Amino acid sequence: MANRQATGYILLFATAICIVCGILVSSFAVSLEPLQDENAALDKQKRVLEAVDLLQPGERVTPEEVAARFEPIKPVIIDLATGEAQADADTATFDQQRRARNPSTSVELPKNRASVKRLPDQALLYEVRGDDGELEMVVLPIEGLGLWGTLYGFLALDADTTTVRGITYYLHKETPGLGGEVDNPSWKAKWPGRRAFDEDGEFQLAVIKGQAGVAAEDPFRVDGLSGATITSNGVTNMLDFWLGERGFEPYLARIRGEAN
Ligand SMILES: Cc1cc2nc3c(=O)[nH]c(=O)nc-3n(C[C@H](O)[C@H](O)[C@H](O)COP(=O)(O)O)c2cc1C
Repeated sequence: MANRQATGYILLFATAICIVCGILVSSFAVSLEPLQDENAALDKQKRVLEAVDLLQPGERVTPEEVAARFEPIKPVIIDLATGEAQADADTATFDQQRRARNPSTSVELPKNRASVKRLPDQALLYEVRGDDGELEMVVLPIEGLGLWGTLYGFLALDADTTTVRGITYYLHKETPGLGGEVDNPSWKAKWPGRRAFDEDGEFQLAVIKGQAGVAAEDPFRVDGLSGATITSNGVTNMLDFWLGERGFEPYLARIRGEAN
C-alpha cells in the first residue's frame, strides 16, 4: 500500500515538475522572441555593411555604430517584374520571405536551378550613394538551395551593375568547414572585382571546382569551396537566378538606363 502511495507521489511530482518547467521554457521563449528578432535584424544589417566593405569580418561594433555606418545605405522596395521603386511601401515592416509564402503576393515558379519555389512580387534591396547623391553600389538579396537547405545572403554590385563588390550570407545550414566556408573571410575576399556579365550582357560568373585566377585576369570565375561542390554550385545557381529576368534584371536595366 505504502509502495503504491510512493509511486503515485513520484508520478505527481514528476508531472508537476514537467508542467512548471514547460511553462518556464515557453514563457522565456516568448519573452525573448522580440530580442531574437532584433538581433537577427542587426546581424542582417552587419552582413549588408560587410558586403559593401563598411564593416570588416569579425569587427565588433555597437548597434549605434551599425546605424551610423548604414547612413549612406538606403533600403528600397522594388517591384521585381518592372524593377520600379515602390515609394509607398514600408521598408521597416517589409518581409520578403513572408511575401514569397503568401499566394496573394507571390507566384509559384517552374523548376529552376536555384530551387526558388515561389517568387514574391516585391523585393527589398539597398542603394549606396556617395555624398553627391550619385549611386555607387546596389546590394541585392539572394537566396537558393545548397546541400542542406536554402542559403540567404547579399550580393553587392557596383553601379555599373556588373562588377561584384562583395558577397555575404546571413543564414544557411551548410556544414561548418565544408559548405559553411561561404562565411570564411578569405573566400569572401576573392569576390570583389569579379564580373557577373560579359560584354554581351550574358551572365558568366561561376564558382568553379578548384582555383580561379585573380579577379583582374579571371573575372568570371571564383574558387570553389573544397569538398563542397554542391554548395559551390548552389552559389552559382542563385546568382544566375537573381541576376536574371525573374530576379533583378529589370531593376539593373533601369539603373543602366539612368546612368546613360
Ligand atoms: C557530413 C557531411 C557533410 C557535408 N556537407 C557538405 C556541405 O555543406 N556542402 C557540400 O557541398 N557538400 C557537403 N558534403 C559533401 C557532399 O556530400 C559531396 O560529396 C560534395 O559536395 C562533393 O564535393 P567535392 O566534389 O568538392 O568533393 C558533406 C558530406 C558529408 C559526409
